[in-house]
Amino acid sequence: MQLKMLSITLVVIAVASGSLAQVTGTYPAVPLISKHYASPADLPYKVDTDTGLVRGQQTGYNICNSTTENQQSLCQTFYFNAHDDFCLTAPPNPGKTVADQEGEMVAWCSKKGHGTRLIPNGAIKGLEFRKTPDYIQIVGKIDQTLINIPEGDYGGEMDSGGADGRGNPMGGVFFSTAWGGSSPIQASHWTCFMGGDMFGCKACDPSKSNPRRHCEHIYDRIGIVWNMPSNAKEGEFVSCDADNAEFVGVYTSNGQVLTYTQPPESLGAISTMPYTPTIPPSSNCKTFASTQLFAALPTGSSSGSTSGTITGSGGSSKPTGSASATGSGSAGAKPTDSGAEAIAVSAAASVLGVLFAALFLA
Ligand SMILES: *[C@@H]1O[C@H](CO)[C@@H](O)[C@H](O)[C@H]1NC(C)=O
Repeated sequence: MQLKMLSITLVVIAVASGSLAQVTGTYPAVPLISKHYASPADLPYKVDTDTGLVRGQQTGYNICNSTTENQQSLCQTFYFNAHDDFCLTAPPNPGKTVADQEGEMVAWCSKKGHGTRLIPNGAIKGLEFRKTPDYIQIVGKIDQTLINIPEGDYGGEMDSGGADGRGNPMGGVFFSTAWGGSSPIQASHWTCFMGGDMFGCKACDPSKSNPRRHCEHIYDRIGIVWNMPSNAKEGEFVSCDADNAEFVGVYTSNGQVLTYTQPPESLGAISTMPYTPTIPPSSNCKTFASTQLFAALPTGSSSGSTSGTITGSGGSSKPTGSASATGSGSAGAKPTDSGAEAIAVSAAASVLGVLFAALFLA
């Protein structure tokens, strides 16, 4: 396998220039994980109404319906129901890396009816959905240029936490019908990895004993393979039952149960891991053809589908196969100012994870 030089994405929270009201703090009074809604019908227009915080305001909205169902939608309510009915966290606009707009991600869904953008037909190249006793998970391969992620961007993690508790995207909420009930149930703890032509999302059953740890979001730099062990393969579309994975970061070595600590970004790229993740056994697997799952999706062209010029830097929005240079700085390292520094740690390219992921999915 040919390994390309990977650029490590430096994450800098760019505080929108000029127009921001005065910044008076970083943390919200109520973190996203403490905002509970009995059903999507109970959602406010925006889940995050904080003002004056360092990351600015929620860029999209949570009331999503037929009028918001289009390719410019800024819906930030994500449905994760089944192998053929899920939404990914992806950028509203092309031309910027995942790390540079993790706080603004919008819902791109595999099915109509959620008031969101739709993942273009043909974008998804393979997936594995697994339902375990405590969570649901989907991992797969995608042409990420069709959902506004620049070619060559190794991306990062979005989750219900974020370094400041506002979530990435801010105000992003997940609902699922996978656990029964007459209307979708909110999963307050969820996590998604996007980038490196892969996607993965996990949402934890709120009625079980440890949704926080099964959907842990502190291992943002080690990627999908460690956070979401799966048997996903390119060209296969599979839905399974499965056992729970061990909590992310917990592993057994010489009979001892240990917990991995992710080193701080200041120590540089993570180049070794003390363990390889165990893929929990799966059962009742059903295999589908992609046409069975996604035939109703419209075809899409690459990221240009939203208006706006594509700036030269990282964001190549050309169809795959073009040899455009993406190097010039995914997430150009802008000078940061003090307040943003702490937040910046929350998202990072998971270079190592992506390398291993490529092996698993090859
Ligand atoms: C549809 O969603 C928009 C945007 O969130 C909202 O303003 C509008 O009230 C909604 N319409 C209905 C009928 O709920």
